[in-house]
Amino acid sequence: MKGLVLTPSTGTASVLDVPLPVPGSGEVLVRVHAVAINPVDQFYYNEPIATQEQRVLGVDFAGEVVGRNADLNGFSDRRVKDGTRVAGFVQGANSANDRPGAFAEYVVTPYDLLWELPGDLSFEEASTISMCGLTAAQGLFPRFGLPSPFSQGSITPVDDPINVLIYGSSTSLGLFGAQLAHLAAQASGRKFRLIGTASTSKHELLRSAPYNYDVLVDYRDADWPEKVKAATAGTGIHFALDTISERDTVEKVHSTLNPQGKYHLFRGQGGGQFDSSKLEIQPFYGTVWEGLGHEVDYGDGLVFPAPPEAREFAVKFFEFLGSGAEEGKAKLHPNPVRKMPGGLDRIVPDAFSLLSGLVSDRKDIGRTEEHMRPISGEKLVYSIV
Ligand SMILES: NC(=O)c1ccc[n+]([C@@H]2O[C@H](COP(=O)([O-])OP(=O)(O)OC[C@H]3O[C@@H](n4cnc5c(N)ncnc54)[C@H](OP(=O)(O)O)[C@@H]3O)[C@@H](O)[C@H]2O)c1
Repeated sequence: MKGLVLTPSTGTASVLDVPLPVPGSGEVLVRVHAVAINPVDQFYYNEPIATQEQRVLGVDFAGEVVGRNADLNGFSDRRVKDGTRVAGFVQGANSANDRPGAFAEYVVTPYDLLWELPGDLSFEEASTISMCGLTAAQGLFPRFGLPSPFSQGSITPVDDPINVLIYGSSTSLGLFGAQLAHLAAQASGRKFRLIGTASTSKHELLRSAPYNYDVLVDYRDADWPEKVKAATAGTGIHFALDTISERDTVEKVHSTLNPQGKYHLFRGQGGGQFDSSKLEIQPFYGTVWEGLGHEVDYGDGLVFPAPPEAREFAVKFFEFLGSGAEEGKAKLHPNPVRKMPGGLDRIVPDAFSLLSGLVSDRKDIGRTEEHMRPISGEKLVYSIV
């Protein structure tokens, strides 16, 4: 098959013929129809940690099941059947240890880490959901402990309403975080006030369904934390997701918190260029990969474990997404799709150029084609078939 292959020793990637992957125990073979691009794809292309001669890049995919390991023969689950439309994510080249990548014609993955698509969801739309959807869900549910339709949880603050801040509301993570926060509100029966930060040009989108923000401020206003505090009528933020987690966003988000507030970062201190060690309330941080059930080796002795409960949560989350197929309606609204021209061979020169550097440092890169404008409230997607 064709795959977009990283050669770590030279830091280059090109479309090459690679062996068709063979499904292991509990795994299915998926013919990839669409892939979505995430900042992490570019990051570990630019600074490889993979130790193999070659690694297939790519995380998010959607496609159709075309084969399975013999141990799944006779299983009634639709996700093991030929022709079922599914989506999921894999590690790509974002680890030192060898793991599968999605930027290819085929990918293998455990069937229970896939979800079935409802008929009205295109492969392109579906490819935007899995990785960032699960990342936001891990923050709100297992880590914050909020209740959801697919996991236990409870809310301790007695204030009414519960103030939730999503810093970076127009990021892919933020677009899923808002939808999931509404699910937590429904599951708890409590009233949530959803407060967000995004460019003013995105406020209309974010005020409307399925995001339904109550309050929006522009993160470019230097006094945005004051505006957020004013919007909580002095109570402060009970739960905050900082989807940017770069430089001063961490301290600023911290400054908006209620004394019992919880907040979550999505980058580590080195990559995000901040120091959170002196903050009064320590943030949650984790990587989405733990949901895949394999430890992640980042090199230099840094190994993130794969707790079984993280995989169990991912399985439940994907079952929940897949229940939309029975109901004929997607459980999470996909990110707005920017369909990129070309195929695997355009990912490095086009998509990765748009994603390079810190998210808050991205600039207009001066390419004049319509598809090369800066990313705002959308996900870059390539059709593979
Ligand atoms: N820990 C994990 O497991 C994990 C998983 C997934 C992602 N991540 C990380 O999370 C970060 C976000 O990823 P993503 O894919 O959601 O990003 P993205 O969709 O590519 O982010 C683009 C958005 O960022 C917004 N933005 C840029 N600078 C901002 C700032 N200073 N303040 C607020 N918003 C700003 C822009 O908003 P406007 O258009 O409104 O200006 C734009 O819409 C990345 O660093 C990614 O690597 C971590």
